[in-house]
Amino acid sequence: MKVISSINGMMKFSKSAKRQGRSIGFVPTMGALHKGHFSLIRKARIENDLVIVSIFVNPAQFGPKEDFSKYPRVFKLDLGVCKQAGVDVVFYPRVKEMYPSSYQTFVTVGELSDTLCGKSRPGHFTGVATVVTKLFNIVGPDTAYFGQKDAQQSVIIRRLSRDLNFPVRIRVVPTVREIDGLAMSSRNSYLNQRQRDEATVLNHSLELAKDLIRAGEKNPKEIIRCMKRLIGNIKSAKIDYIDIVGLEDLETVKKVSKGCLIALAVWIGKTRLIDNIIIDGA
Ligand code: PAF
Repeated sequence: MKVISSINGMMKFSKSAKRQGRSIGFVPTMGALHKGHFSLIRKARIENDLVIVSIFVNPAQFGPKEDFSKYPRVFKLDLGVCKQAGVDVVFYPRVKEMYPSSYQTFVTVGELSDTLCGKSRPGHFTGVATVVTKLFNIVGPDTAYFGQKDAQQSVIIRRLSRDLNFPVRIRVVPTVREIDGLAMSSRNSYLNQRQRDEATVLNHSLELAKDLIRAGEKNPKEIIRCMKRLIGNIKSAKIDYIDIVGLEDLETVKKVSKGCLIALAVWIGKTRLIDNIIIDGA
């Protein structure tokens, strides 16, 4: 497994791989790799000749009061995960090379960025879209892999890829969960034991929504009311948002139907967690 730190080095490697007709599967990450990332890498491994993983904690997607400086950085452990998962190249650029002091170009995907998480994290998805655009240009993947846990991010990247004509297939891979249902996230490491236990309420509320829908409930307001009541029982939990939206446009639906996305963000103490499900029958 190679580690490449320079943008030039990464571009050269990808160009040469392409010349040899080898397909590239790409998994962009911010490191602190967990089983969720592992499943993206495994999928990429199965579907491509080469697998490239980027590890870059992207300052552009963090707000001024967010956790950029405390975001877990465990590069050596991450390399172990990548080796074990059969990665060919880890791209590990420095902030200074990705965003030199003269840097001034940003990519914004319109309305999709302003809803759900975009409301409480203004500028976040511009940061994501910008770095993903740069990474697509540098790595030149055939297929890129993203987790369903970041549902809004996946929708935005699909849109970005279509709108800017990137010749990249976007694959969205199901959320990987702990045994008790908590969605895997690098930010789970911020939780103390009590909060860790209480954080399962995100998944429990989604399961409750599923049960209500199975029982015939179609009114999003009623479903959200029940989810809020359940989460309200947890002292350390503060709801940022719960919404039921269309999977393409992320607009709030009036009636729940198959293919809707139920998404939520909840603060557990000082940690903001997100989760979601897609309704598979209604
Ligand atoms: O999902 C993430 O880890 C990040 O948002 C991404 C896609 C690597 C961009 O920095």
